Amino acid sequence: MASKDELNSRPRDWLSNSQVKGLVAMVVGGGSGIGAATAETLAVNGARIVVADRRKEPAETVAEAIRKAGGEAVAVAMDVSAQADIDAGVKATIDAYGQLDILVNSAGVIFPGSLEDCSLDEWRTSFLVNVDGALLLARACLPHLRKSKAASVVNISSLAGGRGYPNGGAYGPSKAALISLTRQMALEWAQDGIRVNVVSPGTIDTPLTRANMRPEIIADREAKIPLGRLGVATELADTVCFLASPAASFVTAQEVCCDGGLSQSLMAQKFYANK
Ligand SMILES: NC(=O)c1ccc[n+]([C@@H]2O[C@H](COP(=O)([O-])OP(=O)(O)OC[C@H]3O[C@@H](n4cnc5c(N)ncnc54)[C@H](O)[C@@H]3O)[C@@H](O)[C@H]2O)c1
Repeated sequence: MASKDELNSRPRDWLSNSQVKGLVAMVVGGGSGIGAATAETLAVNGARIVVADRRKEPAETVAEAIRKAGGEAVAVAMDVSAQADIDAGVKATIDAYGQLDILVNSAGVIFPGSLEDCSLDEWRTSFLVNVDGALLLARACLPHLRKSKAASVVNISSLAGGRGYPNGGAYGPSKAALISLTRQMALEWAQDGIRVNVVSPGTIDTPLTRANMRPEIIADREAKIPLGRLGVATELADTVCFLASPAASFVTAQEVCCDGGLSQSLMAQKFYANK
């Protein structure tokens, strides 16, 4: 089985023949984890990148790394729950590149806990960032996506959006709404040639996961995943980049689970125990 280091250092330029070269991609939540890996993979394959994040500093760090590697990237500060930030980020994109073809929305928040314990503020913030943010962002990009010949939106939801999850609280319901919102966007905007898909990660080894899961919980989760390990951000990025690129030109309104088989298995722990 490949190690985490081997997976993270695998070649990133596999998209180079599939026309992302020259396209402009805004990756929101691009300062960390799945968003950062997606921005880097799109950049290595020739796309011009806007790294947007609520936190400007990590967004700038990712953009700087892309530029150092020979790619094109600018960083913008953007909170997806603030319309003024979104409008400024879209304007900065058009000012920098004159076009916008791909929107990847990886921004998300989680407040682990039960429905009973979740505060109304946590519930509302979950929906404000994970759902309202996705809508406000995509609507602001829409006029520019309509002008593109390769327009694509990829939202990042979660397995928790399709099934109950321990400590899922407000997170699961908000991610379920994001999957539904994705389908609605896809159907309404198909007439404009804009594809909209959603990727639902299983458990991926990112700062978000490390901040919210104790090591023993991670070990237990690894035992439940049929592939026997957490995913890494570059694996998510490759799935997102495929959907975002013209390589997926007839794929729209789909949820793709990138999860090592977790969503389809109840019994992985038993298989491993019997080995
Ligand atoms: N890591 C996992 O196992 C996992 C599993 C399922 C779903 N997801 C989803 O994948 C997405 C990315 O997660 P990650 O693991 O890379 O997390 P991460 O914490 O490493 O990165 C998320 C980024 O989003 C940014 N962000 C948060 N709120 C924002 C806001 N209001 N506006 C703009 N940016 C904001 C953060 O600053 C951060 O840089 C999230 O939507 C998350 O819910 C992750």
